Amino acid sequence: MKKYNVGIIGATGMVGQRFALLLSKHPWFDVKVVAASPRSAGKKLKDAIGSRWAMTEPMPESIADLTVMDATADVEKIAKEVDFVFCAVDMKKDEIRALEERYAKAECPVVSNNSAHRGTPDVPMVVPEINPEHIEIIKAQRKRLGTKRGFIAVKSNCSIQSYVPALHPLRKYGLKNVLACTYQAISGAGKTFETWPEMVDNLIPYIGGEEEKSENEPLKVWGKINGDVIENAQAPNITTQCLRVAVSDGHTAAVFVSFDNKPSKEEILEAWKNFSGVPQELKLPSAPERFLHYFEEDNRPQAKLDRMLEGGMAVSIGRLREDKQYDYKFVCLSHNTLRGAAGGAVLLAELLAAKGYFD
Ligand SMILES: NC(=O)c1ccc[n+]([C@@H]2O[C@H](COP(=O)([O-])OP(=O)(O)OC[C@H]3O[C@@H](n4cnc5c(N)ncnc54)[C@H](OP(=O)(O)O)[C@@H]3O)[C@@H](O)[C@H]2O)c1
Repeated sequence: MKKYNVGIIGATGMVGQRFALLLSKHPWFDVKVVAASPRSAGKKLKDAIGSRWAMTEPMPESIADLTVMDATADVEKIAKEVDFVFCAVDMKKDEIRALEERYAKAECPVVSNNSAHRGTPDVPMVVPEINPEHIEIIKAQRKRLGTKRGFIAVKSNCSIQSYVPALHPLRKYGLKNVLACTYQAISGAGKTFETWPEMVDNLIPYIGGEEEKSENEPLKVWGKINGDVIENAQAPNITTQCLRVAVSDGHTAAVFVSFDNKPSKEEILEAWKNFSGVPQELKLPSAPERFLHYFEEDNRPQAKLDRMLEGGMAVSIGRLREDKQYDYKFVCLSHNTLRGAAGGAVLLAELLAAKGYFD
């Protein structure tokens, strides 16, 4: 596979730091550019991040001395230096939407972690094991943007990365009603216990905008391309509550589900065991060997024990049982800054590279 030069926009942040670690060992992608706000621009990355480095592994030497560019002022310069960028910035939604379009229009593809373009009908929102075919909408998007190479592709919100993969292989039984309560780690807010001490021994029953995303985004992921847009799926009916909990990394979801045609417990376990997608078929470098792992033990999955399963790219499931109100209930877990953010975006970029979208 050809090597690609990449940029990390938002390199000083929580997700940006994850990108830096993942890409430092990547066989296809070389980080040539790091960018962030004007506050960091002009400094060496290691100085711009300073004490905000939140990873357990040290900062990769290959990027520590790169000079941080200005994500907004240097768009055209960055676009000339790289084949595509990863983007994870904390800015206003309309500013992010405009910034990502500027990169795309400068013929620099954007693989984004931000939510700004998730609702744009010709922007694919991809979980590579679930809806890899949605990248075909890029042709229509390029037509709208007037670009040859440039486009925007996004990954979904981290909250849905635990329960949508578990529900996906069960769609053949007709998903009718889904209730999901998520218990989300503080790194999802770009924080650690040092930077958010109020979260020690605490739970906050509100994460702005998260329930709306958790209920709507699965319907786009399960949607279909129709002409120049992706049309959302009509079912299932999803309701959620999203809570912030005192966990460093790893989002857990407690899920209740009803079907049109209720499967047996064995059929559900079989569907999870046999599920595999395009990333596994193509043997993409970041793809887990098995996407879904079922634990028989009653006290699993646990955030601390299981979030790093298959490099943090697999989803752990447990406690499948029948329910009095719904057909079944179960619990699932995924690593929010790996599968749920930087890792999921790197896997999406690998899919796009393998399919020739960066050439
Ligand atoms: N954390 C997660 O688990 C997670 C999961 C999925 C999606 N996301 C999304 O990813 C994005 C980043 O999240 P995060 O947790 O990494 O946030 P974060 O730790 O707060 O980092 C924010 C990044 O944005 C940069 N930034 C802020 N204002 C900017 C500006 N005006 N121009 C250019 N860059 C600017 C910051 O640069 P400076 O250091 O220079 O200020 C920093 O690099 C958000 O959209 C978030 O919703 C996060």
